[in-house]
Amino acid sequence: MKICVVSDLHIDTYPSSAPLSIIDALCTVVQERKPGLLLVAGDLSSDFRMSLAALEEIERRTGLPCLMVPGNHDLWNWHDPELGTWDIYNRLLDYPHNLARGPYRVNDEWVVIGDSGWYDFSFGDTRFTKEEFLRMERGGRAWNDREFAPWDRPAPEMHRYFLEKLEAQLEAHRGSSILLVTHTVPHRHFTVPLPNDTWSYFNAFLGSEAYGSLIARYTDSIRYAVCGHVHYRKRLTFHRTELICSCLGYAKEWRSADVLEEMRVSVTDLELHDPQP
Ligand SMILES: [Fe+2]
Repeated sequence: MKICVVSDLHIDTYPSSAPLSIIDALCTVVQERKPGLLLVAGDLSSDFRMSLAALEEIERRTGLPCLMVPGNHDLWNWHDPELGTWDIYNRLLDYPHNLARGPYRVNDEWVVIGDSGWYDFSFGDTRFTKEEFLRMERGGRAWNDREFAPWDRPAPEMHRYFLEKLEAQLEAHRGSSILLVTHTVPHRHFTVPLPNDTWSYFNAFLGSEAYGSLIARYTDSIRYAVCGHVHYRKRLTFHRTELICSCLGYAKEWRSADVLEEMRVSVTDLELHDPQP
């Protein structure tokens, strides 16, 4: 079975007056590729209601299950400042194909496991202290999760929550072929290349080395690990697992002015093959 993978659609940042919407473009690419399953690795929008509506529209128009994990933007309380991040996380659980509800069994061989993931600052430059990262601000620039994603605990503890949850699910499915999904990145390969003065600090908020170590521990089972968040389109073979970051990103970051052309180069097809005998 083929699964089409994409991330970081950010539909609320694209002009609603455009002749073709981001969802139109995604549905067209899905018609062209004819997969059996879709996956969006988070950041559909910065408004959970809009993200939920988009997922329902994608499923209705394609007739396919659209698996997802919440990205940090999906979890933002920008439009609902009275809500905490857990409130929004729980509202997103209403969506049946949110992997945060639990693993999705594709067939006898394959299972998809995923959740948002968070960050523990391990990708930040070691010249900064933990206290400096906890401030989530440097040189007058703040990392917006500080204001719009107010969890009930510091970021490294949220990171650990997701790490432990995912590890328990991986352990329970060790005999299967696994596609693992996090919104945040599991490997330094997907952080912003250095030297870069701004990102030597802000890479801290992209993911965690510990997710990579988790993949390494379960690499015999995890055939693919998909992430988003950083708006790259990159792949890397890591131990026996293929890591994939397959983001659409913001229109200002695109190489083409054509949403359909950009969607075609953003969506990655993965084959969920049966294992070699
Ligand atoms: Fe993100």
